[in-house]
Amino acid sequence: MDDISPEIKVLFGSETGTAEEYAFDIETALQTNGFKCSVSDMDDYEKSELESEHLVVIVTSTYGNGEAPYNAEELHSWLESEEIDLSSTSFAVCALGDSGYPNFAQAGKDFDKFLEEKGAERILARTELDAVFDEPVEPFIEKLLDWLSENGQAYIN
Ligand SMILES: Cc1cc2nc3c(=O)[nH]c(=O)nc-3n(C[C@H](O)[C@H](O)[C@H](O)COP(=O)(O)O)c2cc1C
Repeated sequence: MDDISPEIKVLFGSETGTAEEYAFDIETALQTNGFKCSVSDMDDYEKSELESEHLVVIVTSTYGNGEAPYNAEELHSWLESEEIDLSSTSFAVCALGDSGYPNFAQAGKDFDKFLEEKGAERILARTELDAVFDEPVEPFIEKLLDWLSENGQAYIN
C-alpha cells in the first residue's frame, strides 16, 4: 500500500500575475486546512507527470483573442493534441478573464474541456472570474475546501 499521501497540484497560467497570486492563495488556504498542496508555473511543470497526478487545480487567465497566456501555451497545446490517459486524475478549473473581450475566459474553458476529454474527473463546475468586477478567488477556494472536507482525506498532510 502506498503510505505517502498525494499532493494537490495547482498549475497557473498568468501574464500579469493575477492567476499566479490566486494560485498561491489556493495553496495557502489548502495547506492551512491541512491538505498537501503545491503550486507550479505551467511552464516549469513536467508534463509527463500529469498522468500520475491525483488532483490538479488549473488557474489561468486568457489573452490574445481567447488564447492561453504565454506560460500556458505549451501545456495547452500539448493537452489538446497528446493522446494521454487522465482517468486517474481529478481536476477543477478557475478561469480568469475579462467579459469586455469576445472570448471570455476561453483558455480556462479549453483546459476544462481538454482535461475532461482525456478522461479526468471534474470535481467542481468551472469557476469563471471576471476582471471587470475584480472577482476574488475566495468563493472558488470555499468550494474546493467543501469538496475536500467530504472527499479529500487522501490529501491530508
Ligand atoms: C492584451 C489582453 C488581451 C486579453 N484577452 C482576453 C480575452 O481574449 N478573453 C478574456 O476573457 N480576457 C482577456 N484578457 C483579460 C485577462 O485575462 C484578465 O485581465 C486576467 O485577469 C489577467 O490575469 P493575469 O494577471 O493572471 O494574466 C486580456 C487582457 C489583455 C491585457
